[in-house]
Amino acid sequence: MAWINENYLKLKAGYLFPEISRRVEKFSRENPDKKIIRMGIGDVTKPLVASVVRAFEEGVREMATAATFRGYGPEQGYAFLRELVAQWDYQSRGVQISADDIFISDGSKCDTGNILEIFGNQNKIGICDPVYPVYVDSAVMGGRTGAVQENGYFDGLYYLPCGEESHFLPKIPEQKLDLVFLCFPNNPTGQTATREYLTQWVDYARENDCILLYDAAYEAFIRDVEIPHSIFEIPGAKSVAMEFRSFSKTAGFTGTRCAFTVVPQELEARNSQGEKFPIRPLWSRRQTTKFNGVSYPVQKAAAAVYSTEGRKEVAEVIDYYLENARIMKASLLRMGFTVYGGKNAPYIWLKTLRGMKSWEFFDLLLKEAGVVGTPGAGFGPAGEGFFRLSAFAERESVEEGLLRISKIQ
Ligand code: MLT
Repeated sequence: MAWINENYLKLKAGYLFPEISRRVEKFSRENPDKKIIRMGIGDVTKPLVASVVRAFEEGVREMATAATFRGYGPEQGYAFLRELVAQWDYQSRGVQISADDIFISDGSKCDTGNILEIFGNQNKIGICDPVYPVYVDSAVMGGRTGAVQENGYFDGLYYLPCGEESHFLPKIPEQKLDLVFLCFPNNPTGQTATREYLTQWVDYARENDCILLYDAAYEAFIRDVEIPHSIFEIPGAKSVAMEFRSFSKTAGFTGTRCAFTVVPQELEARNSQGEKFPIRPLWSRRQTTKFNGVSYPVQKAAAAVYSTEGRKEVAEVIDYYLENARIMKASLLRMGFTVYGGKNAPYIWLKTLRGMKSWEFFDLLLKEAGVVGTPGAGFGPAGEGFFRLSAFAERESVEEGLLRISKIQ
């Protein structure tokens, strides 16, 4: 009989969002007449915008004709898309990232989960708490941790608590870490990072030979001109960071799947003899072996996001979600909740009622209001006592959900 990867047994609960779905489905089965309002998983509700749909259709039609049909695409992604990304997401902001630094993929979840494969198991990995659970769970699956402790922390990971007192920003570590996952605008707290704060991280990384794994999946929600959209806007970051970006929340691609990871040519790490190696060829080797690229019509659809019309259309959709977030935050504050996030970010991070445990509050909201959110404890021990609401919803659901929550109060 074959042996299992026992690291999976260290993961006590199921993955957070399927666990929420399981509880919601059970509740719906038992209460078939109750209309559920979903503000749990950060999944978009608005359809793909017109210019994206047109490009998608064109891509499919090209696949239907022998003269324009395409089989396997380049593993790193079509140059037409990588060039647009480099131009619009970086060069237009004065950041010298080239198309060669960009790897198109089918999601930032996959990329942030897979990235550790190219790094040795001896690395000290810094993890914020609360955090997007993929970073932790992938580290556990890859055998980079010991067992989970009573406090919910895995042995072998270096946790960076992000509580209310530190404005949900991790303190710059005093010890030397080799890899640190950062995410801004943050999932789950909705906190953003200023240029000064990110500069401290880049300085830390340069002084400590550390690599920052920077998840910027929500950068499109930044409206404040002072807030950087990319870690590469910080001088010196190209030799100490890689960045994960996605079309999921930017352009409604959660079901369509397209994202990209930026690995600058300058980024290096060492082997056990201390010799330096560039990271980019390793990620390229990993992707070309285990990934065959994103489909041509999807990449063509993603390219349309950068057209004049596409940029305008997707900005309008983001404005809609941001307005949801503004309404939610204002209304919850009026109800007397302590509320964070919801500005330059699609997530609202609130304190539970009367210091309730966050899963208890989840059950209360589901039973009393039929509203689904995400318990803060699902993002890590420091999320206990907090709750995340997602602004990815239709306006009338948001209003109805808030009304129902106000009645619980
Ligand atoms: C979330 O709700 O945290 C996101 O949907 C997760 C994701 O993008 O994978």
